[in-house]
Amino acid sequence: MEAYRKLLLLLVLLLGRASTSVLDNRIDQFELDNSSENSCNLPDTLLQEIKTYQPIVNKIISGIVDGQFAGKTWESLSQLVDTFGARLAGSEQLEKAIDYVLDRMKEDQLENVHTENATVPHWVRGYESAQLVTPFKKNLPLLGLGTSVGTPRGGIIADVLAVESFKEFESITPDQVKGKIVVFVPQWESYGKTVVYRSKGASVASKKGAVATLIRSVTPFSIGSPHTGGQNYEEGVKKIPSACITVEDAEMILRKYRRGDQMTIHLEMEDRNLEPFVSRNTIAELVGTKYTNSSVVIVSGHLDSWDVGVGAMDDGGGALISWKALTFLKAMGLRPKRTIRAILWTGEEEGLWGGRAYKDAHKTNEKEEFNFFFESDIGTFEPRGLDFSGNNDAGCIFREIVKLMSSLNATDFETPTDGGPDISHWTSRGFPGASLMNKNEKYFWFHHSAGDSMAVEDPKNLDKCAALWAAAAYVVADLSVSIPKDVID
Ligand SMILES: *[C@@H]1O[C@H](CO)[C@@H](O)[C@H](O)[C@H]1NC(C)=O
Ligand SMILES: [Zn+2]
Repeated sequence: MEAYRKLLLLLVLLLGRASTSVLDNRIDQFELDNSSENSCNLPDTLLQEIKTYQPIVNKIISGIVDGQFAGKTWESLSQLVDTFGARLAGSEQLEKAIDYVLDRMKEDQLENVHTENATVPHWVRGYESAQLVTPFKKNLPLLGLGTSVGTPRGGIIADVLAVESFKEFESITPDQVKGKIVVFVPQWESYGKTVVYRSKGASVASKKGAVATLIRSVTPFSIGSPHTGGQNYEEGVKKIPSACITVEDAEMILRKYRRGDQMTIHLEMEDRNLEPFVSRNTIAELVGTKYTNSSVVIVSGHLDSWDVGVGAMDDGGGALISWKALTFLKAMGLRPKRTIRAILWTGEEEGLWGGRAYKDAHKTNEKEEFNFFFESDIGTFEPRGLDFSGNNDAGCIFREIVKLMSSLNATDFETPTDGGPDISHWTSRGFPGASLMNKNEKYFWFHHSAGDSMAVEDPKNLDKCAALWAAAAYVVADLSVSIPKDVID
């Protein structure tokens, strides 16, 4: 989830409002009164139709939460992560996990089970160590950031310069920075606001001659654990090593620096970037009764993860509920009019590569092919509802669908979405989509760290998320109308 995506979405929504509403008229067109843009004037027939789904929604939810499928999602997720561990883009473990999921999807009797290629970066973490050597010795647990280069063999020993913000760093001259290890210690505001230090810290510091950057982990809470994540070098800057250190160490370094304590750090990193690698998006369907390859409803999460922890939370949970939503609907004998397609993205963590490859491969006919995009990538804790992105008409319809989720106590509707990085390839251009809102207040405690394990995932909550996913996807896929969209080309 990146902050700029939210801005982009807002922009798209504003543009979307300015343009006239273009209903997707391929399927069963209906008329809407658009005279007042921000209110809902759904035809009564449509409102009534949505209400008729209440019994089937209740049946889907009770089957998954209390019935024969209870506990199955957690069980499948634990088998996946216990068998393969972390699934970094470019790794053998990710590719083995993809093959395993394909086999299990076939066993679940899902349809059109296949993969589609996606080229992903291939960054590998090598030996990493950081130690405060002056004024006393202290090991500094660290995690190099995706795409970071390593240090020369034997590492570097350099003086420390610590700042709290980019703004503070602006006032420091290149003379003062040259040859130093720059430590950025931003206070946590929100992930969206704080992550810029992780993604850009190395470029900002390198421009003034720093030899490496260490960044306070992007988390509101810490028990001495570093959190990894992606970073980007700006075009033309000298690539310097970049890693996150713990909140505790970062704050200590900043305090000491402000007191005038001279510090040196020995940093050694063998991280490196290899040739890009051809990975795969993992895909399965529940083929629609009326429409097969048009007006498809996508449910998705990413199968890749960072290489620390096992990616149970980010994004094993989202991937599993997307896969199992189809499995459970199929087993219940429920087949909607439109195809529901589960996509388990690859290479999300390094920059949404799986989604990008899929968008490019399906570009020609995309307006006809896609009706709606779901993505879960901000936790599968207890569900609260769905946040939505799309035009006003679509939002009006979707708001009614979310109201059906009362037996899960998950009827919150918000717009625009605050999640859904992979589907932003479409939602940022006006396709309608939704992301799973859940009680994820602790999500960033575990995010991209060794703490991302099955211990974070609760079987009951995973059932509820899977139930919400299956029920919402079913209704969207079965409605007599497709969801309106204003697509910007
Ligand atoms: C997918 O990638 C593999 C490995 O690079 C290649 O052998 C195969 O031909 C590719 N498939 C398609 C459809 O491009
Ligand atoms: Zn994720």
